[in-house]
Amino acid sequence: MVSKSIQSIQSIRGMKDILPAEVPLWELFERTAFDWLRAYGYRNIRMPILEHTELFQRTIGEATDIVEKEMFTFVDKEKDSLSLRPEGTASCVRALVQHGVLESGGSQRLYYDGPMFRHERPQKGRYRQFHQIGVEAFGFPGPDIDAEHIVMCSRLWRNLGLEGVTLQLNTLGNPDARHRYKHELVDYFQGLWKNLDSDSRRRLETNPLRILDSKNPEMQSLIEGAPRFSECLDSESILHFEKLQNYLSRNNVEFELNPRLVRGLDYYNNTVFEWVTKKLGSQGTICAGGRYDGLVSQLGGTSTPACGFAIGVERVIELLRLEKKNVESTIDVYVVRQGDSANLFSWQVAEQLRDAGLSVVLHCGGGNFSNQMRKAVVSGAKFAVVIGDIEASASLVGIKSLRQPAEQQSVSIAEAVELIRKGGK
Ligand code: HAM
Repeated sequence: MVSKSIQSIQSIRGMKDILPAEVPLWELFERTAFDWLRAYGYRNIRMPILEHTELFQRTIGEATDIVEKEMFTFVDKEKDSLSLRPEGTASCVRALVQHGVLESGGSQRLYYDGPMFRHERPQKGRYRQFHQIGVEAFGFPGPDIDAEHIVMCSRLWRNLGLEGVTLQLNTLGNPDARHRYKHELVDYFQGLWKNLDSDSRRRLETNPLRILDSKNPEMQSLIEGAPRFSECLDSESILHFEKLQNYLSRNNVEFELNPRLVRGLDYYNNTVFEWVTKKLGSQGTICAGGRYDGLVSQLGGTSTPACGFAIGVERVIELLRLEKKNVESTIDVYVVRQGDSANLFSWQVAEQLRDAGLSVVLHCGGGNFSNQMRKAVVSGAKFAVVIGDIEASASLVGIKSLRQPAEQQSVSIAEAVELIRKGGK
């Protein structure tokens, strides 16, 4: 017994437990996503969740919200500054460079999944520990891989039965074009210094592009009047972007061009995109990514074009929940049993049903038949297998569907397996 005077320990703010009742939806999502990744030939890579802080400073960027304010960083016993990963792209590139995976010049299609950590202000859809499935492709310079990623995503939303998820698309051009554009933005916003909010003033010094991302309503008219990036774009980037749009149209993927889409991480060039929904309120971006051709060489590898995206799993799960996706229990059989020889026989029956590949829960803890049947129904199992001493002495089992009204039948174990397989379809 826990004494009342001991205060119960709670989880860390913004870090959620995923309880068994929620897990079926997670499993539905994961099964669908892993089949989908296989369908496109992506292979799994697994990186540590802890990295040297410098990795994120150098890749995501010193002047981004993530690195400035949101990392879980600490100094370890060797006096190294370490951070829990706020995202997976930097670690993925670090791993490939460290192990020389890209040195032979071949291409790679990879994915990872797991928890990420950002010390943001928690709210619905925004957590301090959240999960991503990240997809990254290396060694493809053309827009066909950008298009593959976007077409892939639209298939995933379809496979999950999600509706109302739309695509926002933009290009950030090459680094020179971005440099030119930054200068234009600085000139423009400096002229409006008096009207800028404190965040935008700070960003003007550190990361002027991010002013375009401001959510402050008072900044919107100033942002509307800002120079357009399209005026600074280089011709190669324009061509890349046009080809991408062409691929998307030919694959019937609708998109909205959003010249204000700049993304909160510094490593992008050319294509950037976000998949958004109106159903999740202010945290409506469920997936985001783009091209990052400079990152591999920036981390010391041979220059390799790259492109990728990450899905915010909690947000997709919430959408699935809102759309009331029913997830059926995966338990095939709940075995209820009463009587001495029935109890012994039921172990054999349960093991034989498992040999046949079925998922079987053997009732434990006693109780009469009707009590046990109630538990069988609550378990969500498709069938109850009922064993009393009479069945045990004849090596038979009683079988009853828990999904449709049906009489209990007395059958052999082999017949029970057949019935369950047929009824389970
Ligand atoms: P990101 O936009 O920072 O991109 O995150 C991707 C997705 O993760 C977001 O669209 C959102 O769904 C989810 N997400 C982000 N922060 C939170 C949070 N605090 N709570 C819940 N969900 C969150 C990246 O992380 C890039 N690494 C994506 C990428 C991969 N770009 C190229 N390759």
